[in-house]
Amino acid sequence: MNVSYNKVLITGGSSGIGLALAIKLKSLNNYVIITGRDRAKLEKMAYQYKLDTYQCDLADQGGVQSLIKAVHDQHPDINIIINNAGMQYNYDFINNVSFEKIEYEVEVNFNAVAKLSSAFLPMLLGNKEAAIVNVSSGLALSPKKSAPVYCATKAGVHMFTKALRYQMEGTNVKVFEVLPPLVDTPMTAGNGKDKISPEAVAEEFILGFEKNKFEINIGKVKLLKMIHRISPVIADSILKNN
Ligand SMILES: NC(=O)c1ccc[n+]([C@@H]2O[C@H](COP(=O)([O-])OP(=O)(O)OC[C@H]3O[C@@H](n4cnc5c(N)ncnc54)[C@H](OP(=O)(O)O)[C@@H]3O)[C@@H](O)[C@H]2O)c1
Repeated sequence: MNVSYNKVLITGGSSGIGLALAIKLKSLNNYVIITGRDRAKLEKMAYQYKLDTYQCDLADQGGVQSLIKAVHDQHPDINIIINNAGMQYNYDFINNVSFEKIEYEVEVNFNAVAKLSSAFLPMLLGNKEAAIVNVSSGLALSPKKSAPVYCATKAGVHMFTKALRYQMEGTNVKVFEVLPPLVDTPMTAGNGKDKISPEAVAEEFILGFEKNKFEINIGKVKLLKMIHRISPVIADSILKNN
């Protein structure tokens, strides 16, 4: 992929990995639109980094529909969609799980990715070189016990992305997956150690993106992938209590 002179939509671009991707892509002369729920946060980032914004909650059907309409009406020339927005609940399934939390997590982490991909594909197919980039996780390969729904959604994104890539073979739409390890963002505040920075994720993403590496394994996920290939049991035991 050409990493400059694109028009890019990044869901969840107001903090963490999404924001680092937005800043990096902006510095490479791309037009960048970021989305999120918190309007004040979006406006602050828009002002600071000269980004365009759209406010919506991707867990909400109306929010997804309004984003789809706004893109078609105002930005039909977008040629890169980065499905990055995500959230994680840590819960045990005996004491503090609720249907609401399960539904919210699945809507944001998986359903929104599939819905936005399907809604934007016709637009991307009519464009020049185009891409869908889905942010999954190393936890798509081996789960941690504290986040069963999160890991399931990321494994879902992993398989969805692969199958969509097969469907797009022979078209102008390239389908990428980014698999980060533990990254130092608001999502992981107070959890884990040996985190990498969101800026490091963005740097590695760009290197893979411009070489058309369709599965971009970031940092330690490269090693995890190798271990998983040799022994899924060992890979599982490494991440189980993460
Ligand atoms: N951090 C890690 O260690 C790690 C590792 C592997 C993969 N990932 C994945 O990387 C992606 C980004 O995570 P992050 O760590 O950068 O998280 P983050 O800093 O918490 O940022 C999440 C972004 O998503 C937006 N968002 C959250 N819920 C939303 C909703 N319902 N509707 C619309 N936007 C929503 C947030 O904005 P608002 O709060 O304003 O809505 C924010 O912009 C996620 O898909 C995550 O699963 C993260």
